[in-house]
Amino acid sequence: MPDEQREEHGAAGALSGERVSPPASFVEQANVSDPGIYDEFEADWPECWAAAGDSLDWETDYDRVLGGDGPPFRWFEGGRLNASANCLDRHLEDRKNQVALQWEGRLGESRTYSYLDLHREVNEFAAALRELGVGADDVVTLYLPMVPELPIAMLACARIGAPHSVVFAGFSADALATRMDAADSEYLVTCDGYYRRGAPIHQKNTADNAAIEREGDVEATVVVDRLGNGAPLGDGEYDYDDLVAEHRGATVDPVPRAASDRLFRIYTSGTTGEPTGVRHTTGGYLAYAAWTAQAVLDIKPEDTHWCSADIGWITGHTYTVYGPLALGATTMLYEGTPDYPEKDRVWDLIERNAVDVFYTAPTAVRAFMKWGEEYPDAHDLSSLRLLGTVGEPINPRAWRWYHEHIGGGECPIVDTWWQTETGGAMVSTLPGVDDMKPGSAGKPLPGVGAEVVDADGDPVDPGETGYLVLTRPWPGMPESMAEQDGWFAQRESVRPSLERFDWAYFTEDGATVDEDGYVTLLGRVDDVINVAGHRFGTMEIERVLADVEGVAEAAVVSGPDDLKGEALYAYVSAAEGVSEDDLRAAVHDAVEDAIGAIAVPDVVVFTPDLPKTRSGKIMRRLLEAVTHGDDLGDTSALRNPEVVGEIESALDDPPT
Ligand code: PRX
Repeated sequence: MPDEQREEHGAAGALSGERVSPPASFVEQANVSDPGIYDEFEADWPECWAAAGDSLDWETDYDRVLGGDGPPFRWFEGGRLNASANCLDRHLEDRKNQVALQWEGRLGESRTYSYLDLHREVNEFAAALRELGVGADDVVTLYLPMVPELPIAMLACARIGAPHSVVFAGFSADALATRMDAADSEYLVTCDGYYRRGAPIHQKNTADNAAIEREGDVEATVVVDRLGNGAPLGDGEYDYDDLVAEHRGATVDPVPRAASDRLFRIYTSGTTGEPTGVRHTTGGYLAYAAWTAQAVLDIKPEDTHWCSADIGWITGHTYTVYGPLALGATTMLYEGTPDYPEKDRVWDLIERNAVDVFYTAPTAVRAFMKWGEEYPDAHDLSSLRLLGTVGEPINPRAWRWYHEHIGGGECPIVDTWWQTETGGAMVSTLPGVDDMKPGSAGKPLPGVGAEVVDADGDPVDPGETGYLVLTRPWPGMPESMAEQDGWFAQRESVRPSLERFDWAYFTEDGATVDEDGYVTLLGRVDDVINVAGHRFGTMEIERVLADVEGVAEAAVVSGPDDLKGEALYAYVSAAEGVSEDDLRAAVHDAVEDAIGAIAVPDVVVFTPDLPKTRSGKIMRRLLEAVTHGDDLGDTSALRNPEVVGEIESALDDPPT
């Protein structure tokens, strides 16, 4: 990678040796400020994780922190608990009137729920779900935008022991149908529509189309009336407000769940064409969410925490809903976009709500930086104590801007590395303990086993590139990994890098590590592209493109993007006699219909042919190198070297 690009994409920080210490005023008040925590956890593994387990209320105490010397791993074995009771009921005695959920709507409206309010509505909706027939272990799909009814429905499901499956509201009918079928889900909670940039989006129509495409039946659909039009409802469809009103004052005893029982499933992109369902447990996941929310995000009960991620992704599950509410804090939910109605919307919300901790994606930070510091400068951001980033590497320049212009030079920044699979943060600095190195995430958290290894599984020397491997189970691990013996890797070819360990999970991320053990992430090494902190499997999109009439062949690779870190580039060769303009529109529509607008390629490049090996395999790595303008290396295996020049000139002259 050229130096300039390294700087832009985050790899240079750890190498430049820049260190920033947390201010003493932060350290003094931090939830974790004793550097001894790393050694203590190490010396007492796995019992150290009692620190996480004991932060929860258990209906039946657990017998062992980690049951099973090998898989299946049972975190908090023997324990029974309920996630909604941990996020609501246990806070009623001390802070029933404290704000639990502060919702800021698209059109400037807001709603405030105290712990008592939230407890009441969760109970009412839980009673309604039960009456609709939802039983323990029935999967309820939640296809909702960022409205209060989404966390309420999640907690209502948790209360009755029904795992939820939140599907990002921007996904298409096809994507919703696939996920409902894969989860065998017969219950759906959605809305009539919602506002995006001031214009209504008709969500219910999309849900109706999904129902037509589904293989399975839908027992009941609950519709939140967000647009206020009182949309007509058919058989088996219920208005959310009516249901809650019918159950006014109802209480539902929280159903005690085994620690290893499923709390939810969530779909993410992998290297196969199908979305991967990740299943998280009640005890291990919740304990890990709460522990990392207090240790890494330093959340305290009196704090207002704003995690700007959509709840449709794991970040919103863990750090908008479960983590902050388990700790009894105030969590903020924002329905809109950061530049509507003005580019100071985020700073206005932070000022008005006196937000203490703000957690967002590097892509957002780069957008804020581009818009200019006059927007944050016009607001009083002194309530902020800590900043965080997640989802992609943050380049040092954006880090410094965030630190100076948003944090006033006084707020530590936690750059948290984790995945849908890990449930919570795994690699990060502890803000009250560690120095920060802009561009580098930090060390593995206490108790977390993570190493950067080469192809033989040996630790790389400082500064060398390798694979990030998790080498020990952790409470937030998903069911699939808790159950599986040995090594967890999607590809056989990486097995040699894992065999040295008794147990290991290959994260599919490339990384370097420095002499202090700080890990700098270099991006995915599989065919998953991380755009603006969202995962896209190239194969999933390629499959859609291959089905578009007029497309002869297509490949999707990652390309550079100043704001989003990476962009989706689609290379398409058109069938004879097909107009490129028509095809461009068809490609756009096909991806929007099959997955959603979020997966539409940023750039579509038409090429007479794709670069192929002599055996006819598309050379994706070469395509990626051309896209990034990198050195192409050895191209002798290419059957059709002339296409490289054609692609280069098409990239120099992109369509507008
Ligand atoms: O490549 C890593 C990147 O995001 C991937 C996980 O994506 P997802 O499951 O959607 O979860 C995102 C939110 C937790 C990882 O494999 N990633 C995540 N956090 C960071 C990161 N890359 C660099 N730095 C991070 N802090």
